[in-house]
Amino acid sequence: MSRLYSKITGTGSGLPQRIVSNDELARELGNRGIETSDEWIVARTGIRQRYVAEPGITTAELGTRAARAALEAAGRVAGDIDLIVVGTSTPDQIFPSTACLIQGRLGALGCAAFDVQAVCSGFVYALTAADALIRTGAHRRALVIGAELFSRILDWNDRTTCVLFGDGAGAVVLEASSEPGLLASQLKADGSQAGVLCTAGRIAEGRVEGDPFLRMDGQAVFKLAVSVLGTSALETLRQAKLDPAQLDWLVPHQANIRILKATARRLGLPEERLVVTVDRHANTSAASVPLALDDAVRSGQITRGQHVLLQGVGGGFTWGSVLVRW
Ligand code: ACO
Repeated sequence: MSRLYSKITGTGSGLPQRIVSNDELARELGNRGIETSDEWIVARTGIRQRYVAEPGITTAELGTRAARAALEAAGRVAGDIDLIVVGTSTPDQIFPSTACLIQGRLGALGCAAFDVQAVCSGFVYALTAADALIRTGAHRRALVIGAELFSRILDWNDRTTCVLFGDGAGAVVLEASSEPGLLASQLKADGSQAGVLCTAGRIAEGRVEGDPFLRMDGQAVFKLAVSVLGTSALETLRQAKLDPAQLDWLVPHQANIRILKATARRLGLPEERLVVTVDRHANTSAASVPLALDDAVRSGQITRGQHVLLQGVGGGFTWGSVLVRW
């Protein structure tokens, strides 16, 4: 019997309509006595704008838009899908899962559906889980989605975090294949660092207990991210017996241009091989990698046969890499 692999056959994005530029955000914050500027945000992060969802838009709505676009790109319909895995830390509800809500909207009724909670590594975790389920032969066609509404958990009075994040969703269709698409992957976590990036609030006895906003030790996260991304990239490439020089594209979690460039430098990769969308999308947590991937595929940067490394890193602390032959 020939071996089973999984392959990405389509990608899609779901972005809210409203774009908020750094200047607009700086004006809004300035009206409340909070000082920031386009210059500071661009110099420290590379972010120029972010998408912010209107009230009433949900994570499942953005995820469904991305899923529909990915299905169309793959030439598939919802009824072809037998598995939905969603990476999100901003689900619509505590339960049911956002994957079930998206499944209902798509009308892919009956297929397996569950969420993965690994914050900014959520898509890489979800993709690895779906790949494993496809390789067992239990599932044949999956939708893997990263969808987030981080604007809803930001403290808009905290300039050290509120300028960094945006809303959005990205999706891929992952199908069983006799040829490898996903070549290697690695998932890691370090729960001793849970406090460096967290939203600690929880619901208990009918109330929110604890801090309901995202909190972050920016410098600690920066150092951890740069260190783990480089090592994870090298270890994942080694699994596939590839050299960094054979990598065509690096698609890292879009948190900060300085983290992206530092990772590329560590791999000896020229910056031209880095997919960058953080300037337009800001940090969309689990949505950032599939949004960046879709952008690079649709713009013609990534083409068939190329080696692409997807990387997530974020709260948990979690991180991971997936190496793909496109
Ligand atoms: N506008 C203007 N000034 C600001 C702002 C702002 N929005 N935010 C902070 N400052 C000030 C600080 O108060 C500080 O002022 P001080 O020197 O008077 O105390 C000064 O700017 C420098 O602050 P630092 O925190 O030292 O700035 P740094 O260069 O570390 O940049 C940043 C901060 C952008 C958060 C950086 O640490 C970073 O990118 N960390 C990675 C975190 C990240 O990307 N997290 C995303 C989620 S995690 C993930 O996805 C991996």
